[in-house]
Amino acid sequence: MTSTNPIKGFSKLTKEAKTEWLISNYFEEPDRALQLLKSYWHTDQNIQKLHDEFIENTLTNFYLPFGVAPNFLLNDTLYCLPMAIEESSVVAAMAKAANFWLDKGGFKSEVVSTKKVGHVHFVWRGDDATHLHRFFQSIRDRFFTDTEKITANMRARGGGILDIELIDKTSLEPNYYQIKGTFETCDSMGANFINTILESWASILRDEVLLTQHLNDADREIEVIMCILSNYTPECLVRSEVSCSVDRLVEGSDMSAREFAEKFERAIHVAEIEPYRAVTHNKGIMNGIDSVVIATGNDFRATEACAHAYAARNGRYSSLTHCELVGNDFRFYIEVPLALGTVGGITSLHPMVKFASELLGRPNATELMQIIASAGLAQNFSALRSLTTTGIQKGHMKMHLLNILNQLEATEAEKAMIVNYFKSDVPHYNTVVEVFKRVRGGEVLS
Ligand code: MEV
Repeated sequence: MTSTNPIKGFSKLTKEAKTEWLISNYFEEPDRALQLLKSYWHTDQNIQKLHDEFIENTLTNFYLPFGVAPNFLLNDTLYCLPMAIEESSVVAAMAKAANFWLDKGGFKSEVVSTKKVGHVHFVWRGDDATHLHRFFQSIRDRFFTDTEKITANMRARGGGILDIELIDKTSLEPNYYQIKGTFETCDSMGANFINTILESWASILRDEVLLTQHLNDADREIEVIMCILSNYTPECLVRSEVSCSVDRLVEGSDMSAREFAEKFERAIHVAEIEPYRAVTHNKGIMNGIDSVVIATGNDFRATEACAHAYAARNGRYSSLTHCELVGNDFRFYIEVPLALGTVGGITSLHPMVKFASELLGRPNATELMQIIASAGLAQNFSALRSLTTTGIQKGHMKMHLLNILNQLEATEAEKAMIVNYFKSDVPHYNTVVEVFKRVRGGEVLS
């Protein structure tokens, strides 16, 4: 059922009125729809109010499972990773990788750099770019001094504006220039901080262009297109790796450790050179990254966009992870930009984000970068380990079996019997349905 009536002023209505409008316009069984929405309301009204105020037009909540992967050894600290994700096998795969590397020194990670960037994108119509450069140099200090109030707290924490440059982009777009700011935002992701500064810079630019003596009329025509941070942060970079001698890679399968290492290395190489594979490969990495990013209240869209841009930085989309097999030494590593925050945003508001932070020992942003990069590496290790040995479906379908059984509305007793039945077989959808029908019909599976 779709509505033909547009509505004006929807956001001004009460939650009840919005819900009433919605269910009466879009649902054939409004009572059932209302019940469903209500069943997802939080019983604690304060928490519900918090959720209501995160976004506009909140009607209810949308839950994701929150799971944990224990035994995650990183830089000699044992973590239990919080993960918010709906995909069946991801947490199990993370836990498997954590256990695999636990007695091999675990994950080692280091932050390479923590710079963020933002731009004032503008059009300047003067015909001699040296005028603009001279003008920029004459007002550059004002970009620092006039934003001192905004940057005071960040500077006290060791951050602030690192650099301000004028960039000429006219070879790509007529009259297009940028003021590029480089920032250190310490433990905050920094979007609000950076955007506020950029907007102040735009005002300074507009004011000063009118006041500066040495400019002619054409030089004064500056049009600010927009001011915005960039979610591409190749200089906010973290590396993580695992390593061991090849003989320690003994696998559950028939393969020898050497065969496994070589096949694994080849699989990484395929992802490095073949974009079709690289996208799926990196998607698996993002299963690990996003689930911890979400659990810790960070912006997974920004993380995704940045990681994929970085994966394509050399002109061809490629793998974020790499493998080195030299003699008896196996080394597997990831290099990924991650702009994260442990203060600001919803980090001090969302009860589950606060829980996740406490679970991780209240990491600062650089520690969280290391944790999350390692989570991506671990997830990729598990995926490739399955792909190059048993195949992915064995583990995946085992975890997905409960989803199929829930879809079929199996009882707890039926689920237990069928899960046991598929203990050593890969469950495919049709076979599960067939077995389910037999059990429903009264058959007792041996
Ligand atoms: C599924 O969500 C992720 C994988 O496809 C990743 C991969 O193929 O490497 C298993």
